Amino acid sequence: METMVASTTCKLTLTAFHSLSSTASQTFSPKFSFSFRENKQRKNTHTLKQASFSRLPLGVRANSQAASTASQAVKVGAIPSEMKAWVYGEYGGVDVLKFDEKVTVPQVKEDQVLIKVAAAALNPVDAKRRQGKFKATDSPLPTVPGYDVAGVVVKVGSQVKEFKEGDEVYGDINEKALEGPKQFGSLAEYTAVEEKLLALKPKNLDFIQAASLPLAIETAYEGLERTGFSSGKSILVLNGSGGVGSLVIQLAKQVFGASKVAATSGTRNLELLKSLGADLAIDYTKENFEDLPEKFDVVYDAIGQCDRAVKAVKEGGAVVALTGAVTPPGFRFVVTSNGAVLKKLNPYLESGKVKPVVDPKGPFPFSEVAEAFSYIETNRATGKVVIHPIP
Ligand SMILES: NC(=O)c1ccc[n+]([C@@H]2O[C@H](COP(=O)([O-])OP(=O)(O)OC[C@H]3O[C@@H](n4cnc5c(N)ncnc54)[C@H](OP(=O)(O)O)[C@@H]3O)[C@@H](O)[C@H]2O)c1
Repeated sequence: METMVASTTCKLTLTAFHSLSSTASQTFSPKFSFSFRENKQRKNTHTLKQASFSRLPLGVRANSQAASTASQAVKVGAIPSEMKAWVYGEYGGVDVLKFDEKVTVPQVKEDQVLIKVAAAALNPVDAKRRQGKFKATDSPLPTVPGYDVAGVVVKVGSQVKEFKEGDEVYGDINEKALEGPKQFGSLAEYTAVEEKLLALKPKNLDFIQAASLPLAIETAYEGLERTGFSSGKSILVLNGSGGVGSLVIQLAKQVFGASKVAATSGTRNLELLKSLGADLAIDYTKENFEDLPEKFDVVYDAIGQCDRAVKAVKEGGAVVALTGAVTPPGFRFVVTSNGAVLKKLNPYLESGKVKPVVDPKGPFPFSEVAEAFSYIETNRATGKVVIHPIP
């Protein structure tokens, strides 16, 4: 018998739009991005049925109390042996991604739960992994990609203590992003995940918002911790409009107590930076941040400009880089997924001090995963690109 588990944020019965949320005020969806917000249906180039919802301009979203009960509900029924998933069997461009209706549902190990996936988010690492950039440490192909998940627990392993069937959870399913990531990722109807990588979904967030967070917020937090960031320090965030940077700005200000946050973005995202808490928004198309007279205690490089970042840091300060070549004293790290970090940050999310930033071009329905990949691979996404509903 199939039951519907609705996201706890779903209160209203308005005809549903997946992009509407009862917690709209809890999500930054840059209203100045109207230009690329689509009201038209995307052309379905895959075998799935076109999702049957429309898209609304963001201004409506921001004013609405509506959540989509229908689109945010998760169908939880008997666990099938096969599922729909996106798969690739060779490394390459977006075209290697194939939709497959007969992928075996993963078995849960004793420390894992099986999640019925409600929403998944894309990360640059998904694209780089698919391109074969981490071949040496990847798990064997074929692979179902996807790190970020939000969904409902439908089965628990024998040693699982914290979660039970029916719990709404979220997390980054790969403890080590580059070392043996799972073959059965989150771009599927089901995914099996160690309980230590998960947390209960913040009550005020819907599945779309929750799925947008794990890898990016854990990276933002780990990077800040690794620099020894603390109250009263100043920080410059390079790429403040991306998935990670938009959360670095907020965590630096709201969780760590930064005295000053500066961030770079293109012209169209400067207002977003300010709305996230940046005291100084620097347009990288017009200004060179390293030429500013002001220097910072920490520079958080989320774009790959470490050679320039080190020129903007104070003597004795720290430069953390997520990608690209490292110039001393800069250092790079690779995020470790950790459900405890999500649990620690949940109160900030539930109080609205820290907000998810979901790219207004999405969410992309499951049938449009390839299009969603093409989009993030332009390096122009604002915040996170989310896939929902699944399927
Ligand atoms: N080491 C790790 O553990 C780790 C973890 C997560 C991510 N990463 C890496 O960190 C990088 C950032 O990830 P992400 O998910 O935050 O990226 P993202 O969301 O895909 O970044 C897209 C954003 O980059 C901005 N951008 C493009 N060129 C820029 C420039 N020159 N200066 C400032 N902003 C610019 C774009 O803004 P405009 O459209 O306005 O240009 C867009 O908003 C990626 O390379 C990713 O692989 C590493």
